[in-house]
Amino acid sequence: MDGYSRFASKRTSLFRASEIRELLKLTEGKDVISLAGGLPDPKVFDPRLADIAREVIAERGERALQYSPTAGVTEFREVLKDFAASKGIRVDPGDDVIVTTGSQEALFLAARVLVDPGDKVIVEEPTYLAAVNVFREHGAVFEAIPVDSEGMQTDVLEERLKSMGRDEKRPKLAYLVPTSQNPSGSTMSQERRRHLIELAEQYDFLIIEDDPYSFFTFEPVNVDYLKSLDKSGRVIYTSTFSKILSPGLRVGWVLGPRDLISYIELAKQAVDLHTATLSQYIVMEAIRKGIVDATIERARSLYKEKRDVMMNSLDEHMTGLAEWTRPVGGFFTMVYVNGEIDMKALMLEAIEKYRVAYVPGESFFPVSKKKNTMRLNFSYPSKEQIAEGVRRIARLVKDKLGK
Ligand SMILES: Cc1ncc(COP(=O)(O)O)c(C=O)c1O
Repeated sequence: MDGYSRFASKRTSLFRASEIRELLKLTEGKDVISLAGGLPDPKVFDPRLADIAREVIAERGERALQYSPTAGVTEFREVLKDFAASKGIRVDPGDDVIVTTGSQEALFLAARVLVDPGDKVIVEEPTYLAAVNVFREHGAVFEAIPVDSEGMQTDVLEERLKSMGRDEKRPKLAYLVPTSQNPSGSTMSQERRRHLIELAEQYDFLIIEDDPYSFFTFEPVNVDYLKSLDKSGRVIYTSTFSKILSPGLRVGWVLGPRDLISYIELAKQAVDLHTATLSQYIVMEAIRKGIVDATIERARSLYKEKRDVMMNSLDEHMTGLAEWTRPVGGFFTMVYVNGEIDMKALMLEAIEKYRVAYVPGESFFPVSKKKNTMRLNFSYPSKEQIAEGVRRIARLVKDKLGK
């Protein structure tokens, strides 16, 4: 790449290669247990998707194999509104939905239409790495607010907002994963959700609610979506079929006030014209035939079992060495090692000597860069791999802390 740097746009200097992807390359083809990835377990994929794909092409091929509107297949957008309402997400008459190429594209488009260089974006700390990269690429300055077991600490946010000087730039936007957060696994309490909405109204900022995981929580979480608590058109809600059907289809969606959604639609036109029409038809039929709901139930029970194996293994091997979150959903837990240790610096040794991989937590903390942290995934590895992987990580940590 260096040989071409004189041709590269200034923006490319803000690009970061995904650490997760780089690390996964290191573990390929080796006898290494990886707790690093973030993939769904293929056991949740539904084989009936093959019939749906065949039917859609055979019976509706003229449309399903054709170009389609930028905002998405019209019929599918209506199905999405009903799907949202069936999950308790409020759809206001002034709202609109557009289909995106995964929710990653929704984040990219939202940043594209809302963030100018130097704009302040409130994020949880830790937060989803690929969202940080998107906002950074658009020149955002992060206002990072710590997360505990009840999500973003909104009292800290309030203090921060109050203490901002008269001439200081105000945040325009807050980005959160309020339920089963990636990477921390925490879920924001109802009280903090309400508080955040109040702050958004008082200090006039928008909120992006990124929600890939709420449909299959392992225990009931009695909280409302930020989108449902919002009465002043400040929340842009995005979700995805990646974890509840298939990530390979690349179908996500954004719901929000029509005026905001139409900016996003305009931006999308320039990026990819539209999301794959065939994928949209497949997802639409999968919703109608109950396959999405069946996948959600499979995901809920399989990932709950795996979460339990991970929690039990951490209890058994890491007690006294670290603290960690107990996620009610999602794919991950965040481990905070007790002591001075740099999990990123140890990564290579972990792979080569201890035959285990994790994601160092540092880059999920865009401001404080906590080095003693790692994100562990329980959705993809087998239960045996989870138990053995945690045992190996505990060995590494013990050796390094001299315990
Ligand atoms: C919090 C969060 N947001 C967005 C995404 C992007 O998902 P996709 O683009 O597959 O819909 C992910 C994927 O892991 C995620 O964890």
